[in-house]
Amino acid sequence: MASVGVVTRVLLGKNVVNRVAAANTGFVKFYSTGPAYENIKVEVVGAKKNVGLIQLNRPKALNALCGPLFVEVGQAVKDFETDDKIAAIVITGNEKAFAAGADIKEMQNNTFSGNTKKGFLQDIEDYISNCGKPVIAAVNGFALGGGCELAMLCDIIYAGEKAKFGQPEINLGTIPGIGGTQRLPRYVGKSKAMEIVLTGNFIDAHEAERMGLVSRVFPVDKLLEETIKLAERIGTHSPLIVKMAKAAVNQAYETTLKSGLQFEKAYFYGTFATEDRKEGMTAFVEKRPPNFKNE
Ligand code: CAA
Repeated sequence: MASVGVVTRVLLGKNVVNRVAAANTGFVKFYSTGPAYENIKVEVVGAKKNVGLIQLNRPKALNALCGPLFVEVGQAVKDFETDDKIAAIVITGNEKAFAAGADIKEMQNNTFSGNTKKGFLQDIEDYISNCGKPVIAAVNGFALGGGCELAMLCDIIYAGEKAKFGQPEINLGTIPGIGGTQRLPRYVGKSKAMEIVLTGNFIDAHEAERMGLVSRVFPVDKLLEETIKLAERIGTHSPLIVKMAKAAVNQAYETTLKSGLQFEKAYFYGTFATEDRKEGMTAFVEKRPPNFKNE
């Protein structure tokens, strides 16, 4: 895991406390309480400690996405979203697996009526898709089935050069269930999406980059560092304007070109009601760096 400016959640009896440890001073400060996590690790990283890092942590099951893991990811995303100090969120796994899909052992005996009555694998989509802050996937190893879908729920995907993506549900007699049939064609087009979904074949990181599923590929051991750098770069901008820019790009996936352009125009005009737009343009004219206030 990244070593710069670490926040760990430590168990204190039944409660968990976020412990902020400044790497250089050894200073430890408790700043908030939250739930105990069993399936993920959560840290605050980056030179300015403004990047929320969520590491999926079921290595023995290749980070298979069991129900409790989804709940924990949702909670961690929510925590970071509501923390003003956090500019962007990174979701990662380990070198062998980002996530090898929904937990097959957990759902093996599920039934149609049970899935329909209780709902299954829905909440995570809402938590990540609706998050107002950028969420970036750093994918090393397998990103299969629900793992590939989790990466696609994020705003940007960076991959390690040994990453493997796929929607192998067809091998199990089922189909993708967290958006794979809908998001994958939007990333890579119909023919490639059909090939991936209907064969269950894996694609490697470079192929995924060529297809537009992944925006950059890095050596395995550089992936997390580069992804955190990306999050930090985004974190130099106004969080308010980043949120508006993200919402505007997302409209491209939700609506017609005409409505999307109207939405963009409304948001573009809207930036002129913000202090940060004024500051950004004033700083440019005065030839100095902007000092954004998130206002
Ligand atoms: N669910 C539950 N357990 C899983 C898992 C999954 N999706 N993927 C791997 N595991 C477990 C294995 O059962 C194994 O556990 P045991 O040691 O207890 O047997 C452990 O992780 C290691 O896995 P392998 O021994 O299989 O490792 P490998 O290196 O030989 O193979 C792999 C790696 C090719 C990824 C292989 O594990 C595999 O094919 N996994 C399943 C991939 C898959 O089908 N994903 C789609 C799931 S369905 C889905 O996601 C639906 C949806 O859209 C919501």
